[in-house]
Amino acid sequence: MTNATIKPLTPAIGGEIDGINLSTPLSDAEIAFIRQALLDHHVVFFRDQTLDHAQHKAVGKLFGDLVKVPFVEAVPGHSEIFEIIKLPEERDVYNFGGNWHTDMTYMQNPALVSVLYGDEVPPIGGDTMFASLEDAYSALSPGMQKLLEGLTGVHTADRSYGKSGKFANDTIADEGMDVRPSEEAAKQIEHPVVRTHPETGRKALYVNPNFTFHFKDMMESESKPLLNYLFQHMTRDEFVCRFRWTPGSVVIWDNRCTMHRALNDYDGHRRVMRRVTVGGDQPKLI
Ligand code: SIN
Repeated sequence: MTNATIKPLTPAIGGEIDGINLSTPLSDAEIAFIRQALLDHHVVFFRDQTLDHAQHKAVGKLFGDLVKVPFVEAVPGHSEIFEIIKLPEERDVYNFGGNWHTDMTYMQNPALVSVLYGDEVPPIGGDTMFASLEDAYSALSPGMQKLLEGLTGVHTADRSYGKSGKFANDTIADEGMDVRPSEEAAKQIEHPVVRTHPETGRKALYVNPNFTFHFKDMMESESKPLLNYLFQHMTRDEFVCRFRWTPGSVVIWDNRCTMHRALNDYDGHRRVMRRVTVGGDQPKLI
């Protein structure tokens, strides 16, 4: 039994859950409620939570094994937690997560779920946007769906975390957080452009502007027009929602069918978030 309720944020994506305290051990009914809500709404929001590191990790572990995110230093003593920090003095700089992306698609086994805890949030601004890649896929014509199902995307973290990537220069908000550019980021990883969600069987687009840079067996210049069309399509108003953080908010998103973007409209304010990430399976089109 659970008294939990969920209020959808938009028809396509996002639901706010009330009536669950994530800092306590959850009942089977509460866990089932959250899991189903995530499958139905792709991203779920909780307000007014207080999570220490152990409690935060316990929430992540409801979905699988936690992984250390590459290229960012973890919280000391907690390899599965990292902080996303932008300081008040970091003005006119790119912010971590500021470009639309799905977590860790530069790996063979990208992230399954991410759990973000809002520790310090700006009085205004700093919202996070989420896009439903299932709705984006469904809205395409049968001809375009068929074309995309025959394509493979090539992903890399190089433009973010490579030796000459965004985080290797000083136009980035990384004073407060520890990002480690590396030659490892140059690795290229292939994923189907359309993937099937292993739990729901629904298909979703699986490319993103941050990490997908061309289609397999095609040049970047050849891939760009179609990729740019998809990136624009995927962020149409009817596929996205926008979450306004308050201190103690917790957001859980399913990386198998969403992408997200942290807005950067709060210069002069401090924003501190903590994230745990659940490791995923290898994306497949079934
Ligand atoms: C991220 O995990 O990509 C960052 C999201 C955010 O800071 O809102």
